[in-house]
Order: sequence, then structure tokens, then C-alpha cells
Amino acid sequence: MISMTGVYAGYGGGDVLQGLDLELAHRSVTCIVGPNGAGKSTVLRTISGQLAPRLGQIRFGGHDIAGRHPARLIKAGIVQVPQKNGLFPAMTVEENVLLGGYLRRREKAYLRGRYAQLAERFPLIAERAGDPAGNLSGGQRRTVEFARALMLEPALVLLDEPSLGLDPRSLGLVGDTVNTMRESGITVLIVEQNVRFGLGIADRGVVMESGRVLMADSAKTILDDPEMGALFLGGAP
Ligand SMILES: Nc1ncnc2c1ncn2[C@@H]1O[C@H](COP(=O)(O)OP(=O)(O)OP(=O)(O)O)[C@@H](O)[C@H]1O
Ligand SMILES: [Mg+2]
Repeated sequence: MISMTGVYAGYGGGDVLQGLDLELAHRSVTCIVGPNGAGKSTVLRTISGQLAPRLGQIRFGGHDIAGRHPARLIKAGIVQVPQKNGLFPAMTVEENVLLGGYLRRREKAYLRGRYAQLAERFPLIAERAGDPAGNLSGGQRRTVEFARALMLEPALVLLDEPSLGLDPRSLGLVGDTVNTMRESGITVLIVEQNVRFGLGIADRGVVMESGRVLMADSAKTILDDPEMGALFLGGAP
């Protein structure tokens, strides 16, 4: 579906990604885990075009997309939900969701139809459509961010720390949404600090350290690996 080969990328102070190799299967959910600063968010930024790799290939839909402009990548079906502050707090829920369709803003009927579908899938959107996004709770904002990401029917959704600051019930909603995405044929790449949650909803797991992939396997294998337990779960497997 998408593959990264020998990717080196950074922010000017040297490479953060140090020859990263990563492959995502079509319609799979993959979760990247790893310590703070490992380069997890940088992987997502490199795929979504916010950061151009210095070296290496990113293949998607038969093309090398490394370094392409983010707007072109959104049109090609790759959309990222950022780690935080993804919404415009003074704009309404509806306006925030519709922003996800900005690149096809002239296609009013298509956007209206998409919005209606999403308002049906996420009842919160319909209920709070006219409220400023800044008035929502953290979990509710996450739902709006997801709906916005789905406006243009993406093929690949990148989620950075979707569990951040959520209570167990909202976590369950995030898990349900990811499942719905998988069922509708979307490939999902998640970055998670909450390793149990992230690997729990994923098919595949990837462990990153210092800009490289340490281990890539089924999510269950990684969750059950005693070494991974020692590294990330405080020693309790
Ligand atoms: N905009 C930036 N400018 C300069 N350096 C950055 C920038 N963003 C990240 N870095 C650096 O790149 C490295 C990897 O950061 P990244 O955000 O990818 O880590 P991460 O694995 O997502 O960590 P976390 O779990 O804390 O979110 C860090 O050393 C960080 O300081
Ligand atoms: Mg991060």
C-alpha cells in the first residue's frame, strides 16, 4: 500500500530518521510505538509531505511520493490527524469538519453529501454542529478531527497519539472509529504512547528507536514480547 525504504529525514540539526524501512499492507491498521523522540511523529510528517526526506523512497500507488507537497498528497488520499491543536477553536464544529474538504471546495454537492454521511456516522457532529469547536471536550474534539480527516474519502489515515488525554470511554470511541475506518477499506497508521491501547486496536506493530525500526511484527507478538514489555510497559508483560 505504502512503503518507505532507506528514509533519512530531519529538521536541520541532522537526521532524525536514520534509514527507516516501513511497509503498510492495504486495509491494515499499523501502530508505531517507541520512546519520546524516537521519530514516530516525524515518520507521519514525512509521509504526509510536511517534511521532505533527504534520502530514500516513499512509494504509494505506484509512485515515489517523497517530498511531494502536502496538498497533492491529500488529493492522492493521504491525510494526517496531528498530535494536538488540530481544530480552529472559534470556528463551529461544522466549519471545522468542512475544512477537511477544502481542496474540493468548488464541489458543493459532493461536500454536502459527505458532510451528511459523516454527521450520520458521528452523532456528535450533528448534535454540536453550530457550537464553537473550542467548547468541546478533548474526546469530542478528537471525533471532529477524525470526521474532518474523512471528508475526502482518504485511502491512508495517519493518526498521531489519538488516545492523548482521553478517558476510557472516549478511548473506546477512538477504537470503534479506527475499526470503522478499517472496515471501509482505509489503511491506518497510528502512533501511540499508550502501547496497550494502540497495539490492541492494530493488526501490525512497529517498534521504533532512534529513527530506526527495531521490530515489525503482528501487534499481538509485539504486545506479548517480554523484551518489549521491559522497554515500554514498565517491565510487566
Ligand atoms: N519541528 C521540529 N524542529 C526541530 N526538531 C524537531 C522538530 N520536531 C521534532 N524534532 C526533533 O526530532 C526528534 C524526533 O521527534 P518526533 O516528534 O518525531 O518524536 P516522537 O517519537 O514523535 O516523540 P513523542 O513520543 O515525544 O511524540 C526529536 O529529537 C525532536 O526534538
Ligand atoms: Mg510524537
